[in-house]
Amino acid sequence: VYVITEPCIDVKDRSCIDECPVDCIYEGPRMLYIQPDECIDCAACEPVCPVEAIFYEDDIPQVWEEFITINSEWFEDS
Ligand code: SF4
Ligand code: F3S
Repeated sequence: VYVITEPCIDVKDRSCIDECPVDCIYEGPRMLYIQPDECIDCAACEPVCPVEAIFYEDDIPQVWEEFITINSEWFEDS
């Protein structure tokens, strides 16, 4: 699963949305979120983000690992 992290906050470039073949990137108030049950790990979104906010879950810098939880909780609550 790919995960959007902190650099997306208040940037929301949205380039990632256009690349996703399964439309699993959803917009929240301050950032975008990847639906973990729908992401097919195609990696298409990762290189297009101008602020490099998107990482494969195992490659997320440690300081942003909380975004795995932030991301999944956002889908549970909505
Ligand atoms: Fe969509 Fe592919 Fe990115 Fe997953 S890795 S969010 S399927 S573009
Ligand atoms: Fe955010 Fe980057 Fe997508 S800034 S909206 S993750 S292209």
